[in-house]
Amino acid sequence: MLRDRLERDLERARARTCSLTDIDDDELVQQHSPLMSPLVWDLAHIANQEERWLLREVAGRGPVCQGIDELYDAFLHPRASRTALPLLGPSDARRYAAQVRDLAQKVLQSNNFDDDLTRDGFVFSMIAQHEQQHDETMLATHQLRAGPPLLDAPEAPREAASPVCERVVIPAGEFEMGTSADRSALDNEKPVHRVHVPAFALDAVPVTNRSFTRFIEDGGYRRRDLWSDEGWAHRCEAGLEAPQFWHRESDGRWWRRSFGREVPVHPDEPVVHVCFHEADAFARWAGARLPSEVEWEKAARWDPETGRSRRYPWGDDDPGPEHANLGQRHLGPAVVGAYPAGVSPLGVYQLIGDVWEWTSSSFEPYPGFRAFPYREYSEVFFGGDFRVLRGGSFGTDHVACRGTFRNWDHPVRRQIFAGFRLAHDVAKAPDV
Ligand code: AVJ
Ligand code: FE
Repeated sequence: MLRDRLERDLERARARTCSLTDIDDDELVQQHSPLMSPLVWDLAHIANQEERWLLREVAGRGPVCQGIDELYDAFLHPRASRTALPLLGPSDARRYAAQVRDLAQKVLQSNNFDDDLTRDGFVFSMIAQHEQQHDETMLATHQLRAGPPLLDAPEAPREAASPVCERVVIPAGEFEMGTSADRSALDNEKPVHRVHVPAFALDAVPVTNRSFTRFIEDGGYRRRDLWSDEGWAHRCEAGLEAPQFWHRESDGRWWRRSFGREVPVHPDEPVVHVCFHEADAFARWAGARLPSEVEWEKAARWDPETGRSRRYPWGDDDPGPEHANLGQRHLGPAVVGAYPAGVSPLGVYQLIGDVWEWTSSSFEPYPGFRAFPYREYSEVFFGGDFRVLRGGSFGTDHVACRGTFRNWDHPVRRQIFAGFRLAHDVAKAPDV
């Protein structure tokens, strides 16, 4: 059962990796953006990470391919410098990945899941999640790439449930944040701990392109008072005037480039490709604020009936296509109010899928955090210049997305599939 599921998760990740890298050799080795690795680096890095954990650590094997580890160490070479390295070429990288996978399958088939690394299948799940995380990164590289479209998918849902109530109050009280029991949780999601959360209100849906366009038209990008000092400095230096990939036609209408296609900006879709500072300025303009990650997680997991924290807004069932826009089934977000089956008990839509949601929180360890199995996944990023993002996007596979999952990035980044939703303070109820 567990073994079969892990095997399917690894296979699904590999099918996706292959489709994202099934392009001309020169497209694979090219630098599409200084922010991203050449796709051929991600491909071999995925295999190298799988080799390190499943073949060397779990099975005790020697290297499959001599002398390449340091080429694929993300900490030794910044993304922009990777095309200059003597990387494996496209066919060698594909061969290496296939060879490692073939051996890893055998390791999975014979493993007893009886030590720290393998208990409940952890390290196999970690590797499937790692591959899917890089697949989402490669999808972002595809979005940045110039030239005719290479990817295709059916359009995301265009039907919204009605009526959507605008705002939901999450009452004050403790809830269980994080997890100690989830066998696929990564180290930064652990351990479970109780947190008291004052009452707050959260928008039922993410901020839409319609609202974001109003912010632009109201001079949002020009009004110093709407931006933090750091945000304003960045807005000026980077010349921000609209979300990334947007442009305005002479008739005043907004279009955006989506995976090589020009499409009109859809007013009812969540805004995507904005940085933290743009989200923060918008919130100030709207007289609101971004939620903290604690607030986000309570809204997504807390069950008012039992007081328990669940895995997803809809309960503990694995995400299906009816619950959320995940897994690159579509190449963009659905309209807000889609996925009524994925709504939280209090009526919050699309917390999982569509767009990653910026929170106001910096990336810090939970009390009792222990790095596992390596410091470089989370620990070295704590206390850095990062903001936490929650909920996953249309480009996130469900193995790498749950109510406890924590993503993070620099507050100036916008090539990721990130949007946001607004939170609001609520008047404190008078004591009686
Ligand atoms: C958790 C998405 C921030 O892509 O930098 C991939 C995931 N860690 N390889 C990243 C990750 C190591 C990480 N994020
Ligand atoms: Fe990695």
